[in-house]
Amino acid sequence: MAFSQDILCIGAGYVGGPTMAVIADKCPDLKVTVVDINPARIAAWNSDDLPIYEPGLLDVVRRARGRNLFFTTDVPTGIRAADVIFVSVNTPTKTFGEGAGRAADLQYWEKTAREILANSDRPKIVVEKSTLPVRTAEAMRRILNSNDRGLRFDVVSNPEFLAEGTAIADLESPDRVLIGGEETADGRRARRVIADIYATWVSRDRIIESNLWSAELSKLTANAFLAQRISSINSISALCEKTEADIDEVAYAIGTDSRIGPRFLKASVGFGGSCFKKDILNLVYICEHYGLHEVARYWEAVVKMNEWQQTRFVRTMVSAMFNTVAGKRIALFGFAFKADTGDTRESAAIQVTRQLLEEHASVVITDPKALDNARRDLEHVTGDVSFEADPYVAAAGAHAVAVLTEWREYRDLDFRRILDSMVKPAFLFDGRNILDHDALFEMGFNVFAIGKSPRLHF
Ligand code: UDX
Ligand code: ADP
Repeated sequence: MAFSQDILCIGAGYVGGPTMAVIADKCPDLKVTVVDINPARIAAWNSDDLPIYEPGLLDVVRRARGRNLFFTTDVPTGIRAADVIFVSVNTPTKTFGEGAGRAADLQYWEKTAREILANSDRPKIVVEKSTLPVRTAEAMRRILNSNDRGLRFDVVSNPEFLAEGTAIADLESPDRVLIGGEETADGRRARRVIADIYATWVSRDRIIESNLWSAELSKLTANAFLAQRISSINSISALCEKTEADIDEVAYAIGTDSRIGPRFLKASVGFGGSCFKKDILNLVYICEHYGLHEVARYWEAVVKMNEWQQTRFVRTMVSAMFNTVAGKRIALFGFAFKADTGDTRESAAIQVTRQLLEEHASVVITDPKALDNARRDLEHVTGDVSFEADPYVAAAGAHAVAVLTEWREYRDLDFRRILDSMVKPAFLFDGRNILDHDALFEMGFNVFAIGKSPRLHF
């Protein structure tokens, strides 16, 4: 079959994989190829055991794979054939040199730009899909158009707003699609090509076009605002624990104000994920670069509050358990940074585990989807840590259970059976406020939840 356009995506990760699967599913006339330098990842995308867990993803992949969706490690051939190239390689926070711990590490991006240049023999549209500091598209455009072969590249920014765990729904019915490009005739034409792809299934009034800077900065700003809501409600949760206020009641009451709205007000052990911290630190770095130190400090506080919330959770555990957890078995329910994903990047569970191990606790981790990632995250950590798929086995003989991920199945566990198998007094720390605290207290647990007064039997 002849396809109308050849689309390539470089980087088969959490963003590139699901996004391209949905584009291929919705647009059967496009040939969509996803390339990655990691052969194991590509092999997994070509199997029914996909490299990432995302509800609904396998169905979408199965419908399109082999028809108009292809996964391969052959980057040069993919580049040569493509009309449009989406770039969604990783942009982690720099760990070295200037801007270490804040700025984005752009080595993968720059390498990709040079690969595109080396393997192209005709003009192409290059779409920035990863989150990057503002002005990266501009740097990309300079590298690509610095060739002496007369080749022209249009660079478009199309930031991704999907959230893990709901990626397919977010891609299929997005609040908006944002497409940034240069304010020139060529730039507008390139924007239009990308808008037309999305318009196959997204209504035009949800497709927003802007200049490159606005598109890139909007992505960082959206994530900074979302994370700020969580840090704000978490800061108030600490005050609730000191008073008789209840954080869920406060969140409900303020969320009914239509100017505030009810979403993203769930107090927790702290936000995680690959975006929030990284994007805010990027924003902070950019502000500092422009001498806007007050703005930098303002946003940095969102990250600091999050780190404090994680530490505070462990401090509460230690002080509740008579100021020592040394040698005590503690079962952590959930390691993923949120439910419905196996992703553990920046998960609060990582900090909680490390700090409990520093206190010499014996930590047992359970999670329905994230145990492999948890093992990798804790590979170099010293201390008594083990992994157990069955939450009942994890809790047996434990002094405490701490819920760190809001997996649905944890609400439906037989807590009577768990309590009977634990050392007494038994402690339950609900870092996600998903359990029925009154019922658990009645049963015999000493219950600590975020932003609520402790329920104690002694
Ligand atoms: C986020 C943005 O939502 C998405 O638009 C962007 O493209 C990428 O970053 P993601 O990190 O996948 O998505 O998940 P999200 O649902 O935003 O949750 C982030 C973290 O905040 C999780 O650890 C979650 O548990 C936590 N969270 C979220 C809360 O603690 N309370 C809330 O009310 C909401
Ligand atoms: P994200 O969450 O942004 O999607 P991931 O780390 O999940 O990030 O995915 C990024 C992917 O990009 C990885 O699978 C990595 O192997 C791939 N990648 C990085 N650099 C290149 C490159 N130069 N060519 C092809 N793939 C690359």
